[in-house]
Amino acid sequence: MAKNFDLVVIGGGPGGYIAAIRAAQLGFNVACVDEWKNEKGGPAPGGTCTNVGCIPSKALLQSSENFEHAGHAFADHGINVQGLSLDLQKMLGRKNNVVKQNNDGILFLFKKNKVAFFHGRASFVKAADGGYELAVAGAAAETLVAKHVIVATGSNARELPGAPFDEQRILSNVGALAIQEVPKKLGVIGAGVIGLEMGSVWRRLGAEVTVLEALPTFLGAVDQQVAKEAHKLFTKQGLSISLGVKIGAIAANDNGVTVEYVDDKGAAQKGEFDRLIVSIGRVPNTIGLQADAVGLQLDERGFIKVDDECRTNLPNVWAVGDVVRGPMLAHKAEEEGVAVAERIAGQHGHVNFNTIPWVIYTSPEIAWVGKTEQQLKDEGVAYKAGTFPFLANGRARALGDTSGMVKFLADAKTDEILGVHMVGPMVSELISEAVVAMEFRASSEDIARICHAHPSLSEATKEAALAVEKRSLNF
Ligand code: FAD
Ligand code: NAI
Repeated sequence: MAKNFDLVVIGGGPGGYIAAIRAAQLGFNVACVDEWKNEKGGPAPGGTCTNVGCIPSKALLQSSENFEHAGHAFADHGINVQGLSLDLQKMLGRKNNVVKQNNDGILFLFKKNKVAFFHGRASFVKAADGGYELAVAGAAAETLVAKHVIVATGSNARELPGAPFDEQRILSNVGALAIQEVPKKLGVIGAGVIGLEMGSVWRRLGAEVTVLEALPTFLGAVDQQVAKEAHKLFTKQGLSISLGVKIGAIAANDNGVTVEYVDDKGAAQKGEFDRLIVSIGRVPNTIGLQADAVGLQLDERGFIKVDDECRTNLPNVWAVGDVVRGPMLAHKAEEEGVAVAERIAGQHGHVNFNTIPWVIYTSPEIAWVGKTEQQLKDEGVAYKAGTFPFLANGRARALGDTSGMVKFLADAKTDEILGVHMVGPMVSELISEAVVAMEFRASSEDIARICHAHPSLSEATKEAALAVEKRSLNF
């Protein structure tokens, strides 16, 4: 017999599970369907982010950074570590536990908020009276009927033609987070967010890492002053990054992977690696959704077509997160999920695409919000810039991590903050102040006049705001 709901959410990643919880808070009778399985075949809600994305990558980034610090940085503090060794199985096990805690947390939140959870794959069957009929294929087959549907089916790693992921030698993010022994030589194709984060993890654990990037510019979407600083620091750490390459044939066998490529000078090169991570972007996932059964429209790149408010071409069918246009970020998916639940309830859901922060969790971290200097130049916007280096920040010196800077870009006439760019210690946390400031349309002077705790890294933010008017106090 069919089970009826006000809302069925397809996908239990950050877009889907958050939308389900918010809708339940608003009084709707809600179900969430997610097909992700843990190693025992049980449910593992949380999507890419929880299972093979944000959470496990940050767990391994932290563990590998601790390992690296114990090896080098602690000595500067007068702490001598002897007999340092790596227990990779334990490190991977810890990562798996962190993932499981998040899976369990989401199942608990579903119970707490009375969201009905179905473990299996949902597909559209037909438009039904007053809504849509969906089939769930899982341990038990179910038929669900819903007045509203939110599709939050996420994305998958993009393959290079001729080099399918086998997750042994040629790895997507899934295999990159579960390599069972540290490779001697690790190749990475794509110097984007995953390439830099996962490349950093395995370099810190002892791999010789070579990153091959097609574009001639390093981190082209990042403010170039920040990107140049980061490039310099990553190279110094030992990440070998080749820009402007053209990837040719890739061959994998039991012993390793060979990558033929042409370098930026036009010379043919061959890279021999134990493993290869391919991180060249992600593609929207509508596999198994049976979008055709109800006429749900996709665009030419396979994303579900939506308007600015996440409405699809079908009445009462919405789509959020990686499966629609916009940045593929967990917090963007969450904001869209909340906004759609509120719109279904007749409220004014709100997502400000201009103030979505980006963070790359390397060391130093890279974080930004708003426009880059190159974007402002291209758009012909008159602006003022102010930068402040962590080298001149007392807390950074005490930490022993003085790399990087904070940079403010403000409108030349009104002083409104247009963009804030950071590279340095803990900037993943510092960027929130800039996001709040931009959300409230603050000026750089507003930040410059706010009292910041001393000594703290956040003083670099204040000082960069002061630098916009050329009145830094500590530099
Ligand atoms: P997903 O998280 O992909 O969830 C979709 C869910 O839907 C999955 O569980 C899937 O199994 C399920 N599903 C799909 N089809 C069906 C169906 N028909 N029936 C039932 N279930 C279905 N973003 C950040 O903001 N910060 C980070 O630090 C970060 N780190 C990342 C690191 C890596 C290695 C990767 C790969 C990504 C990272 N991201 C990060 C991106 C982030 O993971 C995604 O933007 C986010 O997960 C998108 O959420 P979503 O809900 O749209 O989709
Ligand atoms: P990406 O878009 O960040 O980077 C892909 C890189 O690969 C680009 O620099 C691109 O120029 C390059 N590339 C593309 N085709 C190539 C080719 N044929 N040869 C060589 N280089 C090529 O994508 P990535 O790293 O796969 O990550 C996917 C997405 O996941 C990110 O864009 C982001 O949205 C999300 N993510 C977010 C994280 C965070 O917020 N910290 C962490 C990891 C992923």
